[in-house]
Amino acid sequence: MGLLWLWTCAPLYIVQALADTDLGFQRNPGLEVDWMLGEAGRMIRAAEEIKPWRTPGLQDEPARPTVPRRFSADIEYVTFESGFLQTGRGFFAQDANEEAMRVLTVRHTLGMSQLLNNHTSLLLGNESYIINGGDLPICKKLPFFGQQQFVDLFAWAANPAVSRYTGERVVAGRACSLWYLLSTNQTRISLCAAGNTPVELNVTLSRSGTTFNFTYQFDRLKLGSEVPEQLLQKPQICDSFAPACENGRGLDPVPLDAYIFHPGMSVEDYNIEDQNVADLAGDAAFICMDWLFHESPRLDHNYTLISRYSLEISPSFGQYRPCNGYPDTIPPGPSCVPGDPRLVGREAPFSAGEGELRCAAGSPLGFWYQLPKGGRCSTGHRPSKEAWATGCTWSVQKRLKTIQQACLLRNHNFLQYCKADVLEDKGFGRSMKALEAAFASEDSSLGGCADVGEPVAQDSESMVVV
Ligand SMILES: *[C@@H]1O[C@H](CO)[C@@H](O)[C@H](O)[C@H]1NC(C)=O
Ligand SMILES: *[C@@H]1O[C@H](CO)[C@@H](O)[C@H](O)[C@H]1NC(C)=O
Ligand SMILES: *[C@@H]1O[C@H](CO)[C@@H](O)[C@H](O)[C@H]1NC(C)=O
Ligand SMILES: *[C@@H]1O[C@H](CO)[C@@H](O)[C@H](O)[C@H]1NC(C)=O
Ligand SMILES: *[C@@H]1O[C@H](CO)[C@@H](O)[C@H](O)[C@H]1NC(C)=O
Ligand SMILES: *[C@@H]1O[C@H](CO)[C@@H](O)[C@H](O)[C@H]1NC(C)=O
Repeated sequence: MGLLWLWTCAPLYIVQALADTDLGFQRNPGLEVDWMLGEAGRMIRAAEEIKPWRTPGLQDEPARPTVPRRFSADIEYVTFESGFLQTGRGFFAQDANEEAMRVLTVRHTLGMSQLLNNHTSLLLGNESYIINGGDLPICKKLPFFGQQQFVDLFAWAANPAVSRYTGERVVAGRACSLWYLLSTNQTRISLCAAGNTPVELNVTLSRSGTTFNFTYQFDRLKLGSEVPEQLLQKPQICDSFAPACENGRGLDPVPLDAYIFHPGMSVEDYNIEDQNVADLAGDAAFICMDWLFHESPRLDHNYTLISRYSLEISPSFGQYRPCNGYPDTIPPGPSCVPGDPRLVGREAPFSAGEGELRCAAGSPLGFWYQLPKGGRCSTGHRPSKEAWATGCTWSVQKRLKTIQQACLLRNHNFLQYCKADVLEDKGFGRSMKALEAAFASEDSSLGGCADVGEPVAQDSESMVVV
């Protein structure tokens, strides 16, 4: 683990802070939906702000579509947002007057597609939430990356200054007129509408030579008061963080064999406070996902090391928070999505499963954890049975070993195992074995990697790792 947040949300961040730098893209099934929606919104606003284009319309141009301000519909989606083809069912609702939009997509988990994840993105004015976990929902509020803001994904088609008619189509057996947002670059936003009824919305964004796209096909629309108001309001669960797992209360701490992917420029980069770590299976899934779709990383080029720690953690888990960055990275960190400041966070990789499997006994893909700074035990202490309610929640026993990630990826062909795992779709067994072997020995013929240790602190006070 490591780098989750930057990895998942970086595109949102880049748009504002690092626009025009050649940073490449990072993806994650989940947050990229919000990134795509945010980007589409920015494209539309940019087009509307430019001087009117006034291209001549086709002679037999039909009346422009005025899509209802408030509607909902079941959707079929197709997307390459996360770097691989995803298709499935979903649900869309918006009220342009209330500046509210909800998009649900039922996702298949990479490496184990029968594991489903109902992913909801909720955009309310300039606030954005992600809800995962199905019947045990967990709500994460996204921070203000590049200004989240509601945008009407359809209204542009009514505006001749920013859109163009390109002819008639048949989509899923329905005749519709195809409208394009005018664009000077690779961005393509199109709407096929039957009169005022949206039939298909396509969004394709292109950055640094990589294409990201999604398609929503809309079923029959519900209009106005047929759309339940609660769908377009902030759910109560978004007002508080998930409480400590009931089944972990009053228990002694449990050992955690934790892995983390991190930079190694200074001693600070070995501080695991406010970072994400994972167990062996969870980290194999993480590294695999990161590298499959990101073979020539730029943003995380300084995340060169993988460390293994022996930890003790209270099993009264709180809500998982994606975290990212170190004091010496750009942008500097660590910073986490809002969440419980003390409880150890836990979820199944990619937020899959009921309640993200936060309190589950096991997970077919392992677990991801978050170690809040406010929950760290002082040296020589460990979490107590009361850690669910008070006191520290995690302690470091020892950093066991640190390796160069290049050793795993290059010398031991990690990607090859990872691709085979994804094709087989039964978890990340091969990838796990390779990661395990890298830490098990220094013998290259056995898949082992050398222990690179850690830099010597100039000031021992700043030593943060035991
Ligand atoms: C494409 O153009 C829009 C303005 O129409 C701009 O906002 C966007 O950043 C551009 N995208 C790229 C990849 O250059
Ligand atoms: C957006 O956020 C600002 C505060 O940052 C708030 O004043 C404003 O009302 C918000 N706008 C909407 C539409 O929610
Ligand atoms: C997931 O979404 C589907 C499709 O909208 C819905 O029928 C189902 O109830 C949802 N499942 C959960 C657990 O929320
Ligand atoms: C979406 O992107 C993928 C991968 O780049 C590409 O193969 C596919 O043709 C694109 N789909 C559309 C509709 O643009
Ligand atoms: C929209 O995307 C779908 C597949 O996702 C593709 O079949 C269709 O041709 C696209 N339509 C346009 C107008 O690009
Ligand atoms: C990566 O490391 C180099 C050299 O230490 C540094 O100059 C650069 O700012 C770092 N980049 C990031 C993104 O942290």
